[in-house]
Amino acid sequence: MKVVVTGGAGFIGAHLTRALVDEGTRVVVVDDMSSGCRANLEGVVGADIEELSVLEPALAQVCVGADAIVHLAARPSVPRSLVDPRATHDANVTGTLNLLEAARQSGCQHVVLASSSSVYGDDPTLPKHEALLPRPLSPYAASKLAGEAYTLAYARCFGVPSLTFRFFNVFGPLQPADHAYAAVIPSLLSRAMAGLPVVLHGDGQQTRDFTYVGSVTAVIVEALRRRVVHETPVNLAFGGRHSLLEVVRVLEGILGGDIVVRHAPARGGDVRHSQASTELLARLFPSLSPVTLEDGLRRTVSWWTAASARASGSGAS
Ligand SMILES: NC(=O)c1ccc[n+]([C@@H]2O[C@H](COP(=O)([O-])OP(=O)(O)OC[C@H]3O[C@@H](n4cnc5c(N)ncnc54)[C@H](O)[C@@H]3O)[C@@H](O)[C@H]2O)c1
Repeated sequence: MKVVVTGGAGFIGAHLTRALVDEGTRVVVVDDMSSGCRANLEGVVGADIEELSVLEPALAQVCVGADAIVHLAARPSVPRSLVDPRATHDANVTGTLNLLEAARQSGCQHVVLASSSSVYGDDPTLPKHEALLPRPLSPYAASKLAGEAYTLAYARCFGVPSLTFRFFNVFGPLQPADHAYAAVIPSLLSRAMAGLPVVLHGDGQQTRDFTYVGSVTAVIVEALRRRVVHETPVNLAFGGRHSLLEVVRVLEGILGGDIVVRHAPARGGDVRHSQASTELLARLFPSLSPVTLEDGLRRTVSWWTAASARASGSGAS
C-alpha cells in the first residue's frame, strides 16, 4: 500500500508517518519544510521525502499510484492567519484544491483531510457536534472550512472518496515551542520545565478538548486500513474538557513543584470553550481507547526531558 502524507514532516504528520512505516506501509511524505523539518523523521526508515509545496504542479506526479492520501499540510495557526490571511488561504485552500485535483487525476480512492475544531467558532453550544452551523472567527478557521467544502464537493462531483476529520487541540512529542505561534501545551511545558512563569492569554479558564497525538494517528491508521469514508466532517477528539489552569495543575503534579502563572491579554480569534461531541467518531470507530490528558502529558514531559538532554549533549537517549 502506498500512502502520500502531505505535511508528513510536521508534528502530527511525522507521528503518522512513523506509525504507517512501522506497520509496513510505503509512505511518501510531501512537505515544503515551512514549519516541519527532516529531523522530525529521524530514524524513520523507508519513507520517501519529497521536499515540495502542495501548491506545485509536481504534486500530481507524486500522487500517481497512491492508494490513499492524508492531507495534513497547512499553515496551522490562528494568530499567523491574522497577520497574513492570504498566505493562509494559499496554503490551506489553494493547496487543498491542488491536492484534490492531484487525487482526481491519479484516480486515488481515499483522501483523508485534516480540518479543525476552529470552524465551530464562538457558537456557545457544547459539546460541538458536526451538525452545528460553522462560525469561523479567523482566516485560519475560514480556510479549514473552505478545505472541507472542497473535499466534500470533490467526493460528490468527481467521486473522490474522502474522510474529513476535525482535529481539536492535539499535543505530544515533537510539537515545537520555540516560535511565536507555538501551541499552548508546548508553550506551557517549555517554560515550566525551565522553571519560568507560564503565560496564559486571558483568565486561563478557557477550555479545550486536548487530544494526545498518538490517539489521533491511531484513528487515521485505522481509517486507512478500513478505508473509512464519510460524507460530512467527523470530530477527531474524545470529549474531554480541560481549562488551561487545569493543565497547569496536572503539570505541577507531574513535574513535582509549583508553577507560577502570569496572565496576558486574550488573543483575537481564540474561542472560549471547545469540546467535541464524540458520537459520530464512536460510531465509525467503535473500538477506540484514547490516551488520557495526564498520561499524554507524562509522555510529552518524558520526550521533552530526553530531547533537552540530547540538545545539551548530556548523552541521554
Ligand atoms: N495540532 C493541532 O492541534 C491541530 C488542530 C486542528 C487542526 N490541525 C491541522 O492538522 C494538520 C497538521 O498540523 P500540525 O499541528 O502537525 O502542524 P505542523 O505545522 O507541524 O505541520 C504542518 C506541515 O505542513 C507543512 N506545510 C505547510 N505548508 C505546506 C505546503 N504549502 N506544502 C507542503 N507542506 C506544507 C509544514 O512544513 C509542516 O510540516 C494541519 O492541517 C492543521 O491545520 C492541527
